Amino acid sequence: MQINIPALVAQLTLEEKAGLCSGADSWHTKAVARLAIPDIMVSDGPHGLRKQAPASADPDDSIQAVCFPAACATAASFDTTLCHREGELLGDECRAEGVSVLLGPAVNLKRSPLCGRNFEYYSEDPFLAGSLAAAFISGVQSRGVGTSIKHFAANNQEYRRMTVMSEMAPRTLRELYLPAFERAVKEAQPMTVMCSYNGVNGTLASENKTLLTDILRGEWGFDGVVMSDWGAVNDRVKALQAGLELEMPSSQGVNDQKIIEAVRAGTLSEAVLDQAVTRLLNLIYRCHDAAQQPETPVFDRPTHHQAATEMETECAVLLKNKGVLPLKAGQKVVYIGGFAETPRYQGGGSSHIRASRVVSALDAAEEKGRMVQFVRGYPANRDEREEAEFMRAVDAAERAEVAVIFAGLPDSFECEGYDRKHMRLPECQNNLIARVAAVQPNTVVVLHTGSPVECPWAEDVAGVLCLYLGGEGVGAAADALLYGDANPCGRLPESWPLRLEDSPSYLNFPGDGKHARYAEGVYVGYRWYDARQMCVRWPFGHGLSYTGFVYHAPRISAPVLADGQTVTVSLEVKNTGALPGKEVVQLYVADATGTPGRPPKELKGFAKLALNPGEEKTVSFTLSPRDFSYYDEALGDWYATPGRYKILLGHSSRNLPAALEVTVQTARRLPMQVGANTVMGDLLRDDRTAALAREIAQTYFAGKERRSDAAQEAITPEMNLQMLENAPLRRLRGLQGTDEAGLQAVIAKLQAAVDAAN
Ligand code: BGC
Repeated sequence: MQINIPALVAQLTLEEKAGLCSGADSWHTKAVARLAIPDIMVSDGPHGLRKQAPASADPDDSIQAVCFPAACATAASFDTTLCHREGELLGDECRAEGVSVLLGPAVNLKRSPLCGRNFEYYSEDPFLAGSLAAAFISGVQSRGVGTSIKHFAANNQEYRRMTVMSEMAPRTLRELYLPAFERAVKEAQPMTVMCSYNGVNGTLASENKTLLTDILRGEWGFDGVVMSDWGAVNDRVKALQAGLELEMPSSQGVNDQKIIEAVRAGTLSEAVLDQAVTRLLNLIYRCHDAAQQPETPVFDRPTHHQAATEMETECAVLLKNKGVLPLKAGQKVVYIGGFAETPRYQGGGSSHIRASRVVSALDAAEEKGRMVQFVRGYPANRDEREEAEFMRAVDAAERAEVAVIFAGLPDSFECEGYDRKHMRLPECQNNLIARVAAVQPNTVVVLHTGSPVECPWAEDVAGVLCLYLGGEGVGAAADALLYGDANPCGRLPESWPLRLEDSPSYLNFPGDGKHARYAEGVYVGYRWYDARQMCVRWPFGHGLSYTGFVYHAPRISAPVLADGQTVTVSLEVKNTGALPGKEVVQLYVADATGTPGRPPKELKGFAKLALNPGEEKTVSFTLSPRDFSYYDEALGDWYATPGRYKILLGHSSRNLPAALEVTVQTARRLPMQVGANTVMGDLLRDDRTAALAREIAQTYFAGKERRSDAAQEAITPEMNLQMLENAPLRRLRGLQGTDEAGLQAVIAKLQAAVDAAN
């Protein structure tokens, strides 16, 4: 149906327009019956459909749905195809259930391992998070269902999440906390963006015009609707002016009235309201039209359950394997731990799915007829040592050939709405693992957790398999991976530090309750551990396989990359083992120009390849100047310092066997304002001012060679040269008869040289 939106807006009364800017209830927009404007329904997201049960008055009482692996797990797939597929399946469920917008994906960066919501987020790396989110969004939206990428922006903790102010340098915001949103918006155009609860640099996200309008729409070209997180609106009129069209959930009319009064009082332009309503109607009719399409969406629950299982099989990460895995048929195996029976497969809060069918590892073992004994050992839902169970587990482990301990965080340890208090597993589990490992060399730990945990027993066990929070098929996936019916191919989307104290934001997380100071700047995750050359338990990108891969013949299409160009990087990857498997090739860019403040390397490409034994494939990546750039605050834009860069390729952030080089050239110049406080070091390094600066240096040094021996000894010429680096131009005053006029003349000459070169 072709609707003339401007004509419709013109027919709406002020009251109707204000009303459209907030929900009718928790999950619907408002309909306008007089003009036959329909409503649409939105529902959580992101890894399953949490639709309110039609017959229930409780907004948190949801229908049964398929619970897919959470984003912590799908991120570990390093597989855009998988995330696209997940999106398609969720889109189908939404269509079948009459839901128009799925509230996800959630792409906030994992700044600290303690954020209570890390399980819902993808990564500590913005390139990985943005690439996977774009794929997910395209998948959902290919079914005519909208998405709501969230929480925009810098919502990296749960502590005081509705009021805390995230504070960071513009460069940190641009390089770390915005790019996942930027990539997803530019590549996949989500129909909506959900603004976060917190503030960013002094202004609540819901009232932040810089974020919601200037950057999101102005710079990235977003053309959908911005909605609030549930209850994030503080001042409705300010929010509307900043670019927030839809307040969720309903404000019971209170805020609609404020919009009406502001328009009447002339403090809010009606044109702003009209623009918001236009965007809302575009969304409503786009979704409404899609829902009217005749083809019935296919949603077959068993098929989706099977897909959820297969996805988790591609997500789980084999962290350690000293020859103990895969398990062999006929081996005497004991499964230990409450999670073998009742796995933890999703996190708590608004993303919690009423799963239709959950498969545990024990269910799967039984179905496959495995020779597995089970001892609970510890309870799944709390940290409590039950002595008899504990000892039964140690005893059974000693008498088995292999002990597999299903460990992880109980639900209450990790949830939306509060952060984790520490990075440890329950003590009862750590103790049990240590005791079992002491009596059984073939001990394997299977982890169910939404973010890293300290693993003090890592050196003492033979194998570790991380399932993250693997969705309703998690037990079947674990079974397939443990017994070698599937080959592990997940990679860590975040670094696992040895201990919480090593993590980059340790001293500043979660802040004082009012401010969260992102003092670590751009050094988040591996950027930090690499810069400080720290040991980690397992590095970003790490993950093992039951087969082996070899890299060779790395090559680059051109030795130089100039403005507006791209280069292609390729290499060959071969499966040298005996089993089919999948390898994730990772590409990192490392600055070698010496630009200050750049992390040692940054992920700029990844690809997942399926390879049969002996098979070899070529993988290629395209890089543009943006991939080599940092955000220059003075320029207010991305900038790649001209010079040499390394391109590192390999298997994980700490295993990069292939290296290439490229020289970046640019005609762009950084702005330079010369003044009395400009230091000589900057002038000597900049090719626009270097020649003049060398002349000026003579003025500094003149006379110094005539100094006494004692003075020469105290400050040698070599020391003088280094001091010069930090000397501002104003130090020239009085030297060699330079007066104020002389100083100003020098400044003017330097500025003229800069301007002439620009
Ligand atoms: C969460 C959002 C969620 C919304 C609706 C909020 O509390 O932060 O992620 O989509 O509730 O349930």
